[in-house]
Amino acid sequence: MTAVFAEGGHRGVMVAEVMAGLKLAPGGRYLDATFGGGGHAKALLEASAPDGLVLALDRDPAAIAGGRVLEDRFAGRLRLSEGSFAQLGTILAEHGWERIHGAMFDLGVSSHQLDTAQRGFSFRFDGPLDMRMDQGRQTSTTAAHLVNGLDVRELTQLFFQLGEEPQAKRAARAIVEARARELFTSTQQLATLLQETLSSGRPGLHPATRVFQALRMAVNNELEQLEQGIKSAMEHLAWGGRLAVISFHSLEDRLVKQIFKTASQPPPVEGPMRLLPQDPQALPPYVLMTRKPVTPGEEEVRANPRARSAKLRVIQRRPLDAPGVA
Ligand SMILES: C[S@@+](CC[C@H](N)C(=O)[O-])C[C@H]1O[C@@H](n2cnc3c(N)ncnc32)[C@H](O)[C@@H]1O
Repeated sequence: MTAVFAEGGHRGVMVAEVMAGLKLAPGGRYLDATFGGGGHAKALLEASAPDGLVLALDRDPAAIAGGRVLEDRFAGRLRLSEGSFAQLGTILAEHGWERIHGAMFDLGVSSHQLDTAQRGFSFRFDGPLDMRMDQGRQTSTTAAHLVNGLDVRELTQLFFQLGEEPQAKRAARAIVEARARELFTSTQQLATLLQETLSSGRPGLHPATRVFQALRMAVNNELEQLEQGIKSAMEHLAWGGRLAVISFHSLEDRLVKQIFKTASQPPPVEGPMRLLPQDPQALPPYVLMTRKPVTPGEEEVRANPRARSAKLRVIQRRPLDAPGVA
């Protein structure tokens, strides 16, 4: 892995907004749950200098290998760990980090993953129909397994639910017909079929976009991972600690919004206790920092079109000295 990867192969999205949202301070312990090309991790290290610590996680061994350069540069302050959101609690415990002062998630795939044909994430390049973020370390199902193995009903459901593809059934039928002649092994095989079968629906949107997104999300179990990861990070926040999440499509954002909303509302009182007067001091343990998601400015979108659909939400664990903290 070359330094180019760790040094900016991936352009971090809304870096300034995330740093402002997290309110970093020297000496703090910060988690970057999606290390990728290290853009945000580097900003976390700089903003918490001279002695803030960053634990950076990624399930992709290539991302971790690429980050060793940064680890050397910030000797003693950056720790890299290969693992998934679902393992977050265990990884934090391994590092003795019971409490963290801030955490961030920058969801989706990195430019490096997307632009490496061999990883099979992109319909723009020809590669194996793979899409496993962890390169098979724990995930054994590839996109090819799903495309060749699910029936029309299952494929339709997958494309509709995870890709929000309005022509899900048409895509599913075409796939099942085509694979009777030849099984799918490459991204180009699938992209070509979808291009011939579907209309893009939106100018500039490749007809394969939504189906590829659905397959990637299913292969990597992304929504379940996200829910587990966010809840785990929230549980480990110190009083006053903040969590920032950047999502790139509506399913992710909806999930983040829902989790944050529930956590920032007073817990429902059940049973006979609900008849007693409510304690006005009993405030919820988390505070929403962003009522509406923060979106990137025009200049950033112009410079980095990938930022176009980004939405940032931030939540804070209520500071200990705030009224109502139990
Ligand atoms: C958009 S990139 C992050 C880019 C990074 N913020 C930067 O500035 O370079 C997302 C990264 O998160 C990783 N990732 C996605 N889902 C994950 C999960 N469930 N567990 C661990 N890492 C995950 C991906 O492998 C990818 O490298």
